[in-house]
Order: sequence, then C-alpha cells, then structure tokens
Amino acid sequence: MSDLIEGYLGKTVERKKSRVPAKLDYIQSATGLILGLFMWGHMLLVSSILISKDFMYGVTKFLEASFIFDGGSPLLVSIAALVIFIIFITHAAMGMRKLPGNFKQYQVMKAHADNMNHEDTKLWFVQAFTGFAMFFLGSIHLYIIMTNPSEIGPYASADRVWSEWMWPLYILLLLAVEFHGTIGLYRLAVKWGWFDGNDPKATRAKLKKWKKALTWFFLILGFTTLAAYMKIGYENAQAGKVGERYTPTAKVMEYKINDGRVA
Ligand code: HEM
Repeated sequence: MSDLIEGYLGKTVERKKSRVPAKLDYIQSATGLILGLFMWGHMLLVSSILISKDFMYGVTKFLEASFIFDGGSPLLVSIAALVIFIIFITHAAMGMRKLPGNFKQYQVMKAHADNMNHEDTKLWFVQAFTGFAMFFLGSIHLYIIMTNPSEIGPYASADRVWSEWMWPLYILLLLAVEFHGTIGLYRLAVKWGWFDGNDPKATRAKLKKWKKALTWFFLILGFTTLAAYMKIGYENAQAGKVGERYTPTAKVMEYKINDGRVA
C-alpha cells in the first residue's frame, strides 16, 4: 500500500522521499569499483603472454588452482566469469537509469553540457557511449569464456583471437573498457571525495593526470598484448596448427630426456 501511495505521490506515507535512488547509486559505485579494479588485474594477467608463452601457461594453470587440483580445474574459471557477469549485468542495469530516455532528454543534456563547457560533465557522454557498447561486446566475451573455460592458454587464446575472429571485437572492447574503466574510477574518486584532503581542487587536477596516465598505460599494454595473441594465432594458422594445445617447455624437455632414456 505504501508503495502505491509513493508511486502516485512521489512521497512515502511519512512524507519522505524514497531512499532507493541513493541505494541504487551506491550499488552502481560499488559494482563499478569492483569491475574497474578487476579489469586492471585482468589486463596484467592477460598480458603475461608478453613475457613468454610458458609464463602465460603458468598463470592460466595457477588460476585453475593447479596447486590444489591435479592439472587445474577450468570450472573455477567458469565460476569466476559467472560472478563477474552478474556484477557486470548489475552495474549495467544501474547505469541504464542515467541514460536519456528519448531524443528530447538527450538534447537537454547535450545543450547543458555544451553550455557549461565543463570537461567532467562531457566525460559523462563518453561513459554513456562506451557503457552502451560494452553491453554487447562484454557480454559476448564473458559468455564465451564462461562456457569454454578450458580453452584458455597461449595457443587456445591466440587461436580464438585470430582464427575465431575475436580480434575485431577485442579492439572495440579494449577501447571501450579502458576509457570507461579509468574515467569511471576517476569519477568515483571525485564523487565520494576519497582523496580530497585539504585541497580538493588540487586533488582533482592530480587525479586527472593519473586518469590520463593510466588510460595510456592500459591502452598501450592492451594493444601490445592483442598484437602478441594475433601474431601467435596467425603463425598457428599458417603452420596448420590451429586447435593444438601448448606444451610448456619444461614438459617438452621431460619428454626429450625420457625418449633419450637419460632418466
Ligand atoms: C572472469 C572473467 C574474465 C575472464 C576469465 C577473462 C579472460 C580473458 C582471456 C583469457 C583473454 C585473452 C584472449 C582470449 O583468451 O580470448 C581476455 C581478453 C580480453 N578480455 Fe577478458 N576475461 C574476463 C572478463 C572480462 C571483462 C568483464 C571484460 C570487459 C568487459 C574483458 C575484456 C577483455 C578484453 C578487452 C580482452 C582483450 C585484451 C587484449 O588482448 O589486450 N574481460 N580475457
């Protein structure tokens, strides 16, 4: 009944405004923070291919908890992807509340942003655009990873990127994620005043510099990583080795020693 009254009058029976929008804002910030930090960790893990194939293989097996389960358990990757997927969908649902619902609303917001000529207000448009793009691009990636958890590794990932045509999607997703993630974390810090100190204006100027530096860092790292997967995938395709799984160097040496009956 009280919902009904609030629905019609915009106020509760106690004549108060609902706290739900504030709670939803909080959920949006919390899920955004988790996803932003997750993406930094994710990029560092995925870029392990830049060190070596063996290292990326080791990281993959470590994340499959090979130190507990013999050979690793890909199910853990599916569970992690599902959890991230749920947080991702929740964050998107919260973000949708802020999108203009029709052209008139969009026009009002655009005119307001242009008139104010305020950089941070304009960043909102970047967030809306990249967020919308991620609805589709991020969902495709997460679903594929979630349902193919054992297909991650130096060759399996590279084949997916090159031979299964994921690279065009990753180019767009990478751009969207890196801009959306760093802008989002910057806006969170400003909104909740995390590093305000005595001089919030000076802090904001510093945060802007961090935002720029981190965006460049992760864009360069991301594109170099993508190029590495594309190169390996291309070489596999040329050598007719698509679908083969990577054998770590230590294992190859073990086979060789055993074949030569050294051990
Ligand atoms: C637990 C969840 C996730 C896992 C296990 C995961 C795993 C991976 C793996 C293994 C790759 C290497 C390429 C491949 O194997 O296809 C990759 C690439 C990528 N992922 Fe994820 N991912 C996850 C979540 C996400 C999310 C939420 C996003 C953004 C919405 C994302 C964005 C990307 C991008 C942009 C690339 C290409 C990066 C590059 O090559 O530089 N991932 N991911």
